[in-house]
Amino acid sequence: MKINLANIKKAEKLLIKRECVAIPTETVYGLAGNAYSNLACKKIYKLKNRPKNNPLIIHYYDLERLSKDCSVNSNFLKLYSKFCPGPITFILNLNKNSKISKIATNKKKTVAVRFPKHPITRNLLKKLNFPLAAPSANPSSKVSAVTSKDVKEDFGDKIKFILEGGKSSIGIESTIIDLRNKPKILRLGGLEISSIKKVLDRRINYVNNLNKITSPGQFKLHYSPGIPVRLNVKKPKKNEAYLLIKRRKKNKPNFYYLSKNNDLKEVAKNLYGMLRKIKKSKYRSISVTKIPNTGLGKTINDRLIRASKF
Ligand code: TXA
Ligand code: MG
Repeated sequence: MKINLANIKKAEKLLIKRECVAIPTETVYGLAGNAYSNLACKKIYKLKNRPKNNPLIIHYYDLERLSKDCSVNSNFLKLYSKFCPGPITFILNLNKNSKISKIATNKKKTVAVRFPKHPITRNLLKKLNFPLAAPSANPSSKVSAVTSKDVKEDFGDKIKFILEGGKSSIGIESTIIDLRNKPKILRLGGLEISSIKKVLDRRINYVNNLNKITSPGQFKLHYSPGIPVRLNVKKPKKNEAYLLIKRRKKNKPNFYYLSKNNDLKEVAKNLYGMLRKIKKSKYRSISVTKIPNTGLGKTINDRLIRASKF
């Protein structure tokens, strides 16, 4: 992808003025603001209609800049040198003299940090003398955005500027790992747990919190395309869109392919765009074929199960 320096300059200027700018990352687009500014962080929550108690991920250029704000440990350093920049977010302890806005962290003593890999956003982060607080660039509880067009559709002119970066190459959010004590996965994402395990050479806890979602009072809509989604479907109904991951001999008008050859990376990359596309089509419900629950398939199933809690 060609880097348009004029666009990066424009984003830089707006961010210095504490405005919000949508930025491309390899996972999904982010809605970014100066992480050291209460004002900029407040604007992010307002634009997304995000509950104030849901803290933001802080995006850094590199370890040197991060170490001013939070304390790192040996597990972090191992994962950083292997996977960063890349689709992994770490929960760390904040330093006492950290400059990160308390609005971004919801006054917690911990913070979520990540080093995005997208070259345009890396170029921008390098220029800025503050990190960027950025949740995914979608209205709260809706499907994340993987192109600038998605962001434009969701926010219209409410966002001052969308930095163009093409389609996100991974297409699904970062994996979140809490590294304060025993490593614990908090959100499945673009980096597979098995890769993390290899580097840390130990078991990693992952508590699947999906059951909680269906318990009374904790029902959480997330990644919702806005129409019903049915999972593990062998035979779709005529009037519903059917998501497939492998080519069928006989094609039907309601078939939508996330991949034609079972490629889970491709499925992840196409998932959110496809959900958005179907929402705009004549179909008013979605059924999905069974997705193997291995590697990235676990992340894909996690998102689909949440999307199905409509
Ligand atoms: O791939 C990504 O991570 C994208 C791109 C834009 O970087 N960002 C993203 O942000 O997915 P968001 O806001 O949609 O999800 C951030 C998640 C939330 O579930 C939030 O609760 C969690 O991170 N989080 C933030 N701070 C935390 C903390 N201190 N402890 C535990 N979880 C935290
Ligand atoms: Mg999000």
